[in-house]
Amino acid sequence: MELNTEHIKPLIGSRIHASRADFANPEFAAACRELLDERIVLLFPGIGLDDDEQLAFTDLFGERVNFVKQAPGGEAAARDVYKITLDPKINNAPEYVLGTFFWHMDGVMETFPPPLASLLTARSVAPRGGQTEFCNLYAAYEHLPDADKAELEGLRVHHSVFASIRGVLELDVTPADWQGISKSNDHPLVWTHEDGRKSLLVGTTAERVLDMPLAEGRALLVRLLEWAAQPDFSYRHEWAEGDFVVWKNSGALHRVIPYDRNSGRTMHRTSVLGTEAIR
Ligand SMILES: [Fe+2]
Repeated sequence: MELNTEHIKPLIGSRIHASRADFANPEFAAACRELLDERIVLLFPGIGLDDDEQLAFTDLFGERVNFVKQAPGGEAAARDVYKITLDPKINNAPEYVLGTFFWHMDGVMETFPPPLASLLTARSVAPRGGQTEFCNLYAAYEHLPDADKAELEGLRVHHSVFASIRGVLELDVTPADWQGISKSNDHPLVWTHEDGRKSLLVGTTAERVLDMPLAEGRALLVRLLEWAAQPDFSYRHEWAEGDFVVWKNSGALHRVIPYDRNSGRTMHRTSVLGTEAIR
C-alpha cells in the first residue's frame, strides 16, 4: 500500500496523511511498520483515534505489551492503554512520569526485549512545555567518525533505574517510593540489530561503562548522549490535541519538555513488544 508521506527532517520523522479508517487496515499498518524502520518517528496530525482504534492499530503492528501495568500510576484495569499524566487526580504516583523529562529508551531494564514501538495519542495538551523530543540512534551511530566507531566496539554499559531518576530524586522523592529502583541491566554500547544495522545505546539509564574508570566512562556516555541528541538526529514534536505519534522505541531515545503538573496534559500510550534482544 502506498502511503501519503513527507519527511519532517532529513534524518528523522515522517508526516503521514491518512484517514481514521486506514488504522484498521492491515496493509496500512504493514506499510507504516516498514517506514518506521527507516524514519523512526511517524506523525499522524490530529487524527484523533479513540482507545479502541489505537489498540486495534497496535495489534496490527505486533504483539501488544503493557510493561508498566504494575508501576505506580499505572492502572491495571486500563486495558493496555497507559495514561501518561501528572494530574494528581488521575496519577497518584506522578514521580514515575517525571523520569520522562530525561532522554531514555523504554524498557531497557526489563528481562524481555525493549518494546519495538511506542504509540501515543495526545488527549489533552499543555499550554506551555510538554513537547516530546525524539532522537535517531541509528543515525547517531552511522554518522560517527570511523575512529570513534572502532573505539566503541565491544564496550558494555551498565544501565539502571537509579541512574535514570537521579534528577527526580532531588525533588524530595526517596528511593523507597520507587518500585523497581534496583533494576539494572548490562548492554553493549553499540546494538547490532538482526538486520545488520547498528545503533548507539545511550540515555540517562546508562550509569557506567564496564571495565573503564568511572569518570572516563561517564564522560564518554555524556559526550555520546549529546552527540545523539544533536538537532540533525532529533525532532521535537509540538503536540496538538488528537495527534498520534508512533516511534521506533528500540532505535530512539525520547523525552518530554517539562510542563505544569496541573496543566491537564494527558497522553494515551500503547506499546508493541520488541522481537529482538539487545546484543
Ligand atoms: Fe518513555
